[in-house]
Amino acid sequence: MSVKRIGVLTSGGDAPGMNPCVRAVVRTALYHGIECYGIRRGWNGLISGDIVRLDETKVSHIINRGGTILYTARSKEFMTEEGQKRAVSTCHFLGLDSVVAIGGDGTFRGALALSKYGINVVCIPATIDNDICCSNYSIGFDTAANTAIECIDKLRDTMQSHERCSVVEVMGRNAGFLAMYVGLAVGATAVLVPEEPIDFERDVIEKIRQARFNGFTHYMIVVAEGAGSAADIAQQIKDAIDLDPRVTVLGHIQRGGVPTGRDRVNATKMGYLAVEKLLEGKTNRIICTSNGAFTDVDIDEGLSMVKRIQQTEVDVLQAMTGI
Ligand code: F6P
Repeated sequence: MSVKRIGVLTSGGDAPGMNPCVRAVVRTALYHGIECYGIRRGWNGLISGDIVRLDETKVSHIINRGGTILYTARSKEFMTEEGQKRAVSTCHFLGLDSVVAIGGDGTFRGALALSKYGINVVCIPATIDNDICCSNYSIGFDTAANTAIECIDKLRDTMQSHERCSVVEVMGRNAGFLAMYVGLAVGATAVLVPEEPIDFERDVIEKIRQARFNGFTHYMIVVAEGAGSAADIAQQIKDAIDLDPRVTVLGHIQRGGVPTGRDRVNATKMGYLAVEKLLEGKTNRIICTSNGAFTDVDIDEGLSMVKRIQQTEVDVLQAMTGI
């Protein structure tokens, strides 16, 4: 398998660190004397041929920038066989033999389809949700977590002054990895995630009562968006106990901002490895982390895996909130 021209795209929800990853793909390709093209607006750009030649100047000063210079989208058309065939024709027409796809599992499903048509594909996990089952880490999670933590620390100041209860909704779609991590980091009174069964009386009301009994006068409830809306939970608290909680939905603020050092370095390593894997003749792969080391798995295999909230996190949360 020869690699002559690589296309790189970002797809799905953006994540801080996508830019350093694009930069690493481009610089690694150039290092090996391979041409690199940016495909704009995710898979849509591959269907329409919306590509731009990338060289070192085009990716300079982006290692520290959130968002993605390539734009991103969730392509409905690419999910159809017709859309995929059009994308393959575009690859042939433009001479793109390989594609590095940076995004979440929706992006990977698209990449899998493309690889079945003979295009070399390597995927890189990038989503603030950190819900890629084959990888402990995904690009953007660290920055998003730190953004949420900073916001909640600010909220805590005013909650403390007014002796209030705060209910904060953290992103994550159907996953609670971000909420659990953030909840542990801010010392939340309770954390609700979709992966764990919720008994409202036991998991929220009792914890507030216990905290109050221990002398606390403000309470921070962190809820993953997939576990319910912060507004509903605040109302349930109000109905159950003499508190008038304030609601904060952190929303898309979590997706922006300067990528942390960790996200930049991991994005750079993963972008580098994606090109190296292509050069080794590999295709249909996801670059991932397992027990702190970088590795790669088949896309089909990666998509069939299941990821759970770490039992240690559940146990630690219970110990931190259960006294
Ligand atoms: O997958 C990333 C994510 O930010 C989720 O946490 C969230 O549910 C979703 O994307 C929001 O999507 P959109 O940007 O389309 O509103």
